[in-house]
Amino acid sequence: MKRLFTPIITALLLLATGCSNAPTMSQEEADAYRRADKLMKKMTLREKLGQLEQFITRKGVVTGPEGVKRDIESAIRNGEVGSFLSVFNREDSHRLQKIAIEESRLGIPLIIGCDIIHGCRIIFPENLAMSCSWNIEAIEHSARIAAEESAASGIHWTFSPMCDISTDPRWSRVSEGAGEDPYLGAKIAAAMVRGYQGDDLSAPNTIAACVKHFAAYGAAQAGRDYHTVDMSELMFRDRYLPPYIAALEAGAVTVMSSFNDFMGVPASGNRWLLHTLLREELGFTGFVVSDWNAVHEMIIHGVAADGKDAAELAMKAHLNMDMVGGDYIAYGEELVKEGRISEKLIDNLCREVLAVKYRLGLFEDPYRYGSQNQNEAYYRPENMEFARKVAGESMVLLKNDGVLPLAKDTKIALIGPFADAPKDQLGAWRGKGEPERSITFRQALEERFGKQNVLYTKACECGKGVDRVVEGGIREAVKLAKQADVVLLSIGLSGWHSGESRSRAELTVPAPQQELLDALKKTGKKIVVLLSTGRAMDIRNEVEKADAVLLTWHAGTMAGPAVADIVSGDTNPSGHLTISFPYSVGQVPVHYNAKTTGRPAKDQYKASGYSSSYVDIQNAPLFPFGYGLSYTEFEYSDLQVLTPEVKLGGTVKVSVKVKNVGKRAGDDVAQLYIRDVVAETTRPVRELKSFERLTLAAGEERVVEFEVPTSDLAYCHSDMSFKADAGDFIVWAGADSNATLQGEFKIVE
Ligand code: BGC
Repeated sequence: MKRLFTPIITALLLLATGCSNAPTMSQEEADAYRRADKLMKKMTLREKLGQLEQFITRKGVVTGPEGVKRDIESAIRNGEVGSFLSVFNREDSHRLQKIAIEESRLGIPLIIGCDIIHGCRIIFPENLAMSCSWNIEAIEHSARIAAEESAASGIHWTFSPMCDISTDPRWSRVSEGAGEDPYLGAKIAAAMVRGYQGDDLSAPNTIAACVKHFAAYGAAQAGRDYHTVDMSELMFRDRYLPPYIAALEAGAVTVMSSFNDFMGVPASGNRWLLHTLLREELGFTGFVVSDWNAVHEMIIHGVAADGKDAAELAMKAHLNMDMVGGDYIAYGEELVKEGRISEKLIDNLCREVLAVKYRLGLFEDPYRYGSQNQNEAYYRPENMEFARKVAGESMVLLKNDGVLPLAKDTKIALIGPFADAPKDQLGAWRGKGEPERSITFRQALEERFGKQNVLYTKACECGKGVDRVVEGGIREAVKLAKQADVVLLSIGLSGWHSGESRSRAELTVPAPQQELLDALKKTGKKIVVLLSTGRAMDIRNEVEKADAVLLTWHAGTMAGPAVADIVSGDTNPSGHLTISFPYSVGQVPVHYNAKTTGRPAKDQYKASGYSSSYVDIQNAPLFPFGYGLSYTEFEYSDLQVLTPEVKLGGTVKVSVKVKNVGKRAGDDVAQLYIRDVVAETTRPVRELKSFERLTLAAGEERVVEFEVPTSDLAYCHSDMSFKADAGDFIVWAGADSNATLQGEFKIVE
């Protein structure tokens, strides 16, 4: 943890909190704890329990059972609630706050949390899409803008970043994360925390971040949301834990426990996760909020007999705040009276919540968030321009036989359910996003190519509860295609298909849209598929039939201009996949950093018998991690290991030449992968360890120098220690995870 260590204060706090290992704490944080302790002296047990409750108002976004209906205003007055979620506007935020400040006995401010995941007013591409930009600074900046717009809306706290690694695109929440790789995931998680929290948490334009969903929520069995997670501790520490740690190290002040059980114990009652690992080992000193009703759901998990039991389990596990369920306030006093939990335990949980409120500056000025001029904060032109740029950088060109980019006078048949779908393009968890502010593909293409040159029809509908060809849709689509030079076909999955609780067993484009593609194919016109999705899909059929495929994702408010920029050639596509696109759903989970096994496939296709391969399809995904095309070509050569032998603790340096051998400027993502040849536990066939996004003019050549500290080569050993070892390594550099330029280096003691 990169924080100031104040041993005396920390030691005193440790005595108070009963932790055995020393967390590190900044002076400012320690002050907040001291102030919280002072305040707690005046609080009744019920008021302390109140600080551990998070309620929802009737207007809030509901993502699960609502539990007990409450008289919210009396609860605030009685000091029985410390937080609200899903209060998206400052009028409501200030109204609730005013009751807390003016009408409750001690006037303790509320903390208001919301799901601001990929933008507040201006919606950026869904997180998975944004990760494909590999542009860490841009991702940080997007979180910064989201924080400013949120703070102006009276929001103090976002339930983001989602740090869940997932290799299963059947799980709909892959859209909220950064893909399959822990190294990239860690960089992105930290960047988002920096963006939200800035350098000063109490500043009126920064908000608290929340590391979620702790832990391993992305490994739900069979990709089914909320399903069991069961994996070895070694796998967890190696692949799943790094992004959470990176976000904590960046200073995130809250964590959300996940819905899933983990090694047999639901995360919200899992003391090993929430106390031993999170507090004692990782030194986390902020507070943990449960996911929606997750404490109460421990009854259904079958580890608690009733709400009282569930509250006891969660409190003892070191879960501070109960989201929505209400069991803490309902049973906390009884639990203390019956001696099942101590008041000291409640004090510890309460102190950590109050300390975050102090750190946010809520005690100094409870209305600080939301007092800004919203017209100045929202939709700033430079931020809209930035959203357009980042949307363009997120899009991935998967195939192009030369049809793209289009000449400026091209007559386009723009067809499909997502070509003019302002809401769908915003994707899941749209914050305060307003579809009416979205610029759609249709609007932007009409502007770029001229209204008379864009012939539009939707042809199909796809979304919540609907998946069909519209009456006469195919006939109309074929008619327009015949009148045009090229078909831009916007198909895939809707915004509704992304996010929580939308798992899919099939990863293909829905059948009605495939029917549409088949009919258009028969016209003989060139077809460019614009693939709308929040997950990786099996798009074998589309890749075979289309002349180009541009993965547009759900790219947010400015998706339209970004698509127009790319298809017109004003922007050269530069996104690279951060999740493997499977060849078939049967391969899932398919990811580049698999382990070799004792019998690896001899080749990636039609492998001979008795090897770890399928007899009916290839092992390789359709498109690997790191993959992405451009309108120009980049040539990689001359990999040099500048440090063939490095001492443990030193830095490995590798260089590679990258040349833009095409005719236009472009950006590429140079990637470095390593393999630990002989390790104490089995290692992936390769692992991303460095990357650089670079811009090269036509004909320009650059030497990219990668630096990998040996600490980044640490991995989980069988005794659960996480460290790097001496030994031999292979290194590859190139533009995707199949990079072939190779070298070797050695780490010595
Ligand atoms: C989701 C969380 C979200 C919470 C609050 C839950 O259903 O799993 O990611 O932050 O709701 O809206």
